[in-house]
Amino acid sequence: MAILVTGGLGYIGSHTVVELIQSNFEVIIVDDLSNTEKYILDGIQKITGVRPVFYPFDLKRRELLTQVLEAHKIEACIHFAAYKAVGESQEKPIDYYENNLFSLINLLQEFKSRNISNFIFSSSCTVYGQADEMPIWEETPLKQPESSYGRTKRMGEDILKDFAIAHHKKVSLLRYFNPIGAHPSALIGELPLGVPNNLVPYICQTAAGIRACLSIFGQDYPTADGTAIRDYIYVVDLAKAHVAALKKVIHHKTDSLIDIYNLGTGKGSSVLEVVKGFEAANQVRVKYEFKPRRTGDITIAYADVSKAERELNWKASTSLEEALKTTWQWQKHLESRNS
Ligand code: UD1
Repeated sequence: MAILVTGGLGYIGSHTVVELIQSNFEVIIVDDLSNTEKYILDGIQKITGVRPVFYPFDLKRRELLTQVLEAHKIEACIHFAAYKAVGESQEKPIDYYENNLFSLINLLQEFKSRNISNFIFSSSCTVYGQADEMPIWEETPLKQPESSYGRTKRMGEDILKDFAIAHHKKVSLLRYFNPIGAHPSALIGELPLGVPNNLVPYICQTAAGIRACLSIFGQDYPTADGTAIRDYIYVVDLAKAHVAALKKVIHHKTDSLIDIYNLGTGKGSSVLEVVKGFEAANQVRVKYEFKPRRTGDITIAYADVSKAERELNWKASTSLEEALKTTWQWQKHLESRNS
């Protein structure tokens, strides 16, 4: 029995594939390489000693998905494959709805009639919008997400809840806070395609001289230093949470289950703290300037992680400093690869 990992060569997907293999799961990857490269498969192989079966196609091609499901005995699916750039989703909302929802629906159309009962979904803390109270726990009321990207995640959750109930399946909806860092081997990490939107990749490229200066969006937030606060979780810790969530759904005895977990560290850090932390961890300078707030950004988000601790026996254990070190090591690896 194997685990189908869609988007398994992407940022969080590839780290999860490594953890799955190291927990003795057989992994089948489907990835259309729209936001990564096949080279990540080599990294997975170097780390684990296993080269998982890999199918390069877009999940909107349902006939190809059918072939994979006929060729392998699949026990569960971890579904990462999706577009994820918030700003881009505002410019191309229909592409986001098409890609993120059609691929999900194709998977569920296939699974509903097959004996594949376990499904893990990449969701996001964006489903909470700007929550009224911190920390955010799983019962915090959901708000309309600010972006089309966020709405695809919210809709994905709703679709999966209906799927679990109507078809007696077990689903786990994992709401990530802000994933950062790379594997300690520096053999896999987030591949930079274009100008980064997210904070830590932008800091890293500024330190490396690829970008001239980091813009810090907003110095007038009602926080201690005036910059916005997020919960930055190390990607390997996040990957391990997927294995824990997967084991829970697989071993769950009743035929229908909807699990929801916040995956963060429980600690908020401001943009300035992350910049200073990166400088201190890696002994580098990051040039920055303050700019107006970015449209759609919220002031503060950090997780209450007690449910995942209690029910999954999982807790993020890597410090912000350690995570920021791995980001820089990965950057150096990319530079040596390109030189
Ligand atoms: C966003 C999404 C989240 C998604 C994540 C990864 C929302 C509310 N959040 O998180 O769902 O999972 O992207 O794609 O939709 N910043 C700067 N300068 C920069 C970049 C960022 O100051 O160059 C600041 C931002 O204003 C923000 C913080 O850094 O305060 C984090 O930004 P970012 O890394 O883009 O993540 P989110 O917007 O929190």
